[in-house]
Amino acid sequence: MALLIDGRSVAAELRAQLRSAVERLWHERRIRPGLALLLVGDNPASQVYVRSKAKACQEVGFYSLVEHLPADTSQARVLEYIERWNEREDIHGILVQLPLPRQIDEQEVLLRIDPRKDVDGFHPENVGRLVLGLPGFVPCTPAGILELLRRYVGSLSGKHVVIVGRSAIVGKPLANLLLQKTPQANAIVTVCHTGASDLASFTRQADVLVAAMGVPGAIGAEHVREGAVVIDVGINRIVDPATGKERLVGDVRFEEVEPKASAITPVPGGVGPMTIAMLLWNTYRAATGQVWDGQ
Ligand code: GUN
Repeated sequence: MALLIDGRSVAAELRAQLRSAVERLWHERRIRPGLALLLVGDNPASQVYVRSKAKACQEVGFYSLVEHLPADTSQARVLEYIERWNEREDIHGILVQLPLPRQIDEQEVLLRIDPRKDVDGFHPENVGRLVLGLPGFVPCTPAGILELLRRYVGSLSGKHVVIVGRSAIVGKPLANLLLQKTPQANAIVTVCHTGASDLASFTRQADVLVAAMGVPGAIGAEHVREGAVVIDVGINRIVDPATGKERLVGDVRFEEVEPKASAITPVPGGVGPMTIAMLLWNTYRAATGQVWDGQ
């Protein structure tokens, strides 16, 4: 039986640590971390994520505000909010929930966020810093995956990590994070995508397999080497044909992969809770001003 990687309990532990740190920060410097969240449109998944992020802020003692704008909001209006939050001293982190509606240029919006408040790590300055190995904000899901691997697997130095999916939110930043020449990372990294004609020939070489393509149940036993560590980043909402109800499934067919794996993340309760825990830590670091001078 594979070891179950319990992201939910690790995230709870990180939030508890953060609660104490937030109290100290208040007593010593009279600073309360503040996060502004922008949601545009009615994407149901995005609404759930933003609500969870705001609730998590409340739990650890942050100030947070949520601006929910209609789907037909103009680009200019979105930029107005960003500019306003860039100026506000009580807002240390700005998060624009993606995806944005089609009329809005995502890159232009991300570019306008003050890089020192870019707690998602999506601004080109932070992307560049990650690629170069300089201090900066690391995107939350990759940071959460690295934390789980640190705790459950140990050093990845010399291990072969195969990532399936090349998104700017997970695949690309995770590859850069794992490539860094640090004792924790220093992995051999392969990134696969839809261009692979024989995906299993790549994924079967993995010591650590990361499924981040957003395709329900795409990874089965045939993709996994015996004893591999499997990290499932997929959060897909499907209607269960048996019950007619919506439920969450990952990119990995858990039942058939688990017996082959040495360790595996469940969905839900694996990577998902870690994304929010890392967002909170990034916001805390933004509030303390410790982002650029070493991490
Ligand atoms: N949409 C899916 N994942 C994320 C994330 O980590 N941050 C933001 N802002 N939007 C997302």
